[in-house]
Amino acid sequence: NTLWLVVPAAGQGRRMGADKPKQYLTLNNQPILAHTLARLHAAFPQARLVLCLDSDDRWFDPTWVPFAQWQRVSGGAERMHSVLNALQAMTAEGSDLVMVHDVARPCITRDDLHALYQAAQTHSGGALLAMPVADTMKRDNGDQLSQITEPRDGLWHALTPQSFRYSLLRHALEQAQQTGTVVTDEASAVEALGEAPRLVSGRRDNLKVTHPDDLALAAAILAAQSATASN
Ligand code: CTP
Ligand code: MG
Repeated sequence: NTLWLVVPAAGQGRRMGADKPKQYLTLNNQPILAHTLARLHAAFPQARLVLCLDSDDRWFDPTWVPFAQWQRVSGGAERMHSVLNALQAMTAEGSDLVMVHDVARPCITRDDLHALYQAAQTHSGGALLAMPVADTMKRDNGDQLSQITEPRDGLWHALTPQSFRYSLLRHALEQAQQTGTVVTDEASAVEALGEAPRLVSGRRDNLKVTHPDDLALAAAILAAQSATASN
């Protein structure tokens, strides 16, 4: 079966507040988008890539794509619509695995990618990389007054990639779209169908570059990973 990689890269990077979308900012001499695609290709050289790009994108350069087989699709209003556009444009079999990975997570490692792939292949509800919550969690009523402490037992941070059979993921996201639910990851759409995706404990350094101070952190992580060959 073919492995399909869907990389949503149609975001504007508003929280970063740079002069271009964050995926085009340079870290260690390469744009974030090129780092991310290179990491995915190192783990899965034979996979097919579907890249979601904003239709007004002025920065993308196809020489950054290392895959032999790839296509671009237009982004949608929200991340889930970008992913849905990809699923509707590609020619997958229902049983093919689809792996969705944020372009803004360039520090993904080969080991994590392979661990997730194994889990998704063996678990019918799919799988996602995740990280047990380490900090004590507080809840307010929108007023920055701590009302309760949420027990952190059993709480995870959802990361990407997330991987599911094509038929399940497409059904889940179309269902979310029909009910007007905006999901921020694929797993929530799949959970809404009553499935339970496998949580695969991933590395803590798989950060999503979001705010300006994440740039120095991501650059340091990428450098440390290549020094220890853990990329
Ligand atoms: N994304 C997308 N299509 C959208 C919105 C987001 O493909 N309509 C992608 C982003 O490019 C990113 C991933 O989804 O790879 C996660 O989104 P996020 O980190 O929120 O990125 P942005 O939306 O670009 O950032 P911000 O929310 O700060 O504007
Ligand atoms: Mg966003």
